Amino acid sequence: MDKTFYITTPIYYPSAKPHMGHAYSSIIADFFARFKIIDDYQVHFLTGTDEHGLKIQRSAEKAGKEPQIFCDQISQTFRDLSDTLNLSNTDFIRTTETRHKNTVQHLWNELEKNDDIYLSNYSGWYSVSDEAFYNEDEIEEVEGKKIAISSKSPVEWIEEESYFFRLSKWEKPLLDYYEANPDFIAPQSRKNEVISFVKSGLKDLSVSRKSFSWGIPVPNNKKHVIYVWLDALTNYLSALKYPNKDDDLFKKFWPASIHLIGKDILRFHAVYWPAFLLAAKIDLPNRVYGHGWILSGEEKMSKSKGNILDPLEIIKEYGLDPLRYYLIKEVSFGNDGNISKERLEDCINSDLANNFGNLCQRVTAFAIKNCNGKIPLEVKFNDEDLLILNKYKDNLDNIRLKIDNQNINFYIDYIVNSLFEANKYFNDQEPWKKKDDIIRLNTIVYTTLEIVRKISFLLYPIIPESSLKALKIFDIEEKNIKLSSVSNNEYLTKGNKINKIEILFKKIEKNND
Ligand code: MSP
Repeated sequence: MDKTFYITTPIYYPSAKPHMGHAYSSIIADFFARFKIIDDYQVHFLTGTDEHGLKIQRSAEKAGKEPQIFCDQISQTFRDLSDTLNLSNTDFIRTTETRHKNTVQHLWNELEKNDDIYLSNYSGWYSVSDEAFYNEDEIEEVEGKKIAISSKSPVEWIEEESYFFRLSKWEKPLLDYYEANPDFIAPQSRKNEVISFVKSGLKDLSVSRKSFSWGIPVPNNKKHVIYVWLDALTNYLSALKYPNKDDDLFKKFWPASIHLIGKDILRFHAVYWPAFLLAAKIDLPNRVYGHGWILSGEEKMSKSKGNILDPLEIIKEYGLDPLRYYLIKEVSFGNDGNISKERLEDCINSDLANNFGNLCQRVTAFAIKNCNGKIPLEVKFNDEDLLILNKYKDNLDNIRLKIDNQNINFYIDYIVNSLFEANKYFNDQEPWKKKDDIIRLNTIVYTTLEIVRKISFLLYPIIPESSLKALKIFDIEEKNIKLSSVSNNEYLTKGNKINKIEILFKKIEKNND
């Protein structure tokens, strides 16, 4: 059976142009997708935009545009960002597409058929910014204004006729499910949060709105539009052509391997979504991972707070791969992280330019000069060579396991250590002093080139473009990057030409005052 992997990002609100927080979720998802691609999985990687609801309707009104036209324009900036970030996504879904609307209405009908939806009246607090309902104990008053404690966004009182989903009925099944599937919610701290929320008691959830029209109509009552979160979450299914269960995409890729989300939207993904799926008798995704926030100072970066770092500006100034590397390395995965240009510059100088770029340049320059510009023909590994080479083989299964547990921190540490070791090996072995022992010189060069090749493979999920540039040394193409061959100590064909490559990363001049 083919190995398959289905990963999703949140679908982003096109209420304003994308910022670093959105870029972060997408880059992390791309990291996992690319890792699985080189590990020979068939990968479906979904991202997109969440275009209905009052938040978007109001943003469009503010901009003086029809909501659809407004969404068309801003959704395009998210699509463009996917290209700019070099995402390997296989689909980009918009919730205003027909394929999606049909699936949502189908799911609604299923829930109604199973008696999980009923008509009543809602009165309570609502945050348009979060598109979320809040209980009285979840809000506070600050300077005379009611806000949600968790997100600090303003709430307003609403009272209207509404359809409800029988969420309360699913309290016990959800708790049983979490217990039977201990890896469903990650990391552990988030899981505890969810469990205590569910244990505190679930109330039925309002799943339709009547006082505005920008949404998917309730199938048999056009006066209501479907609650935007029920609409949005369903994107993960509509992209696989659900309800067509015979479709290849659905058969192959559902249940999703992982929904990657920010911790701000955990409740929707780890409580509401599984409850909807249980009610509709659809398998649950394997995992929901809630990562931390990119902070600006002490606060979450967001449009309403006006503390946005624009990914496009950073990319323009430093390049894409440095940003990807930096976000993956410096924001300890699962936790919040502060980002600063200074740390980004340190990363570029020490890890990328010195440790990786320099190693590539040094060994190729040496080989071009001393080995006729070819991969050495005759090599004889000694214990030291084998020790450093075999580490990759010995660690490969562990690396796979760590990635399946979303332990990105382990992965990046492994690479940083490997680079450090590789540089040390080349220095300590002093091939420049071995000119009268040509087999030894050849072996040191071959070993170091093999390590450059292995590390470039491992770096591919993080910095794909630079990894490919480095692999030009050996004329290795993207389609030939296979994780399994990281174990091979003699992958490089002896006698093949070695190519000189351009400088991979330029060092940043820093003022040390
Ligand atoms: N549309 C909903 C998601 C629906 S998914 C079925 C939404 N959209 S959003 O535009 O607000 O994006 C939310 C996601 O963007 C977060 O969950 C997170 O993945 C990412 N980020 C937005 N700001 C962020 C930070 N400051 N830091 C890290 N990621 C954050 O919620």
